[in-house]
Amino acid sequence: MKIVRTASRATRLRNEPGRPLVLVPTMGALHAGHLSLIEKARRLAGPRGRVVVSIFVNPAQFGPGEDYSRYPRPFPRDRRLCEEAGVDVLFHPEPDVMYPAEFSTYVNEERISLGLCGLSRQGHFRGVCTVVLKLFNIIAPDAAVFGEKDYQQVAVIRRMARDLNVPIRVVTAPTVREADGLALSSRNAYLRPEERAQAPVIRRALLKAREAESVSPAELTRQVRREIAAAPLAKIDYIAVLDARTLDKPGPNTGELVIACAVWFGRTRLIDNIHKKACNPHKH
Ligand code: PAJ
Repeated sequence: MKIVRTASRATRLRNEPGRPLVLVPTMGALHAGHLSLIEKARRLAGPRGRVVVSIFVNPAQFGPGEDYSRYPRPFPRDRRLCEEAGVDVLFHPEPDVMYPAEFSTYVNEERISLGLCGLSRQGHFRGVCTVVLKLFNIIAPDAAVFGEKDYQQVAVIRRMARDLNVPIRVVTAPTVREADGLALSSRNAYLRPEERAQAPVIRRALLKAREAESVSPAELTRQVRREIAAAPLAKIDYIAVLDARTLDKPGPNTGELVIACAVWFGRTRLIDNIHKKACNPHKH
């Protein structure tokens, strides 16, 4: 496995005909969720293709007072996991490689990124779009793999890629979970034992909401809120029931809903989501 730390070296990987290049962008502290994206990338790339994983804790997507400085950075372990997973190239730039002095250009998606996490993390998706577009430009892969756990992130990146004519396939992979349903996240390591014990309430509430029949989005939201609020350490940031395709309010043409939520346990903010068929009383 090759380790590359500068943009100019990474750019030299550029695609060779017949050798697909597939990128998995991450911030490191790799877990089984990241590894499932790498496996998917491996399959997409095929035997002759190459998988590039980027590990970069992107300062531009953290707000003031967020966990940028304490975000875990276990590089030797990450490097070993990538090696074992058959990654061909690990792109691991320092911040000044991605944001050199006098950096002053950012990418803003101005619709899908406004609500949900965009509301409680101002500037977050501007940072995500900027770094992802930079990674797309530096690596120029054929495809890039993202996790459905960050549902809004994928929607924003797809929109950005479409709007800015980025010729890269955006592929998704399902959320990998602990046995008790908690979605894997690098931030789970912050949870205190009591918080960790209560965190699976999120998944239980979402599963229950998926089973509920003939319930309006407003009632679904209330139901999920009630379930999660029953965990004493849970502080709800948002619960939203939206059209899974547009991330708008569900309407008569909504076929699939996404129920998305963000919940604080102490200083740790966890997100998750689930899909549900829309029940539309006017349609049969
Ligand atoms: P990070 O949180 O490291 O996540 C990297 C990728 O792993 C994202 O696509 C995320 O959706 C996916 N992922 C995280 N937890 C997962 C799980 N439990 N199951 C499946 N996939 C999971 O998301 C980011 O980094 C950054 O915003 C990034 C896109 C790298 C831009 O900086």
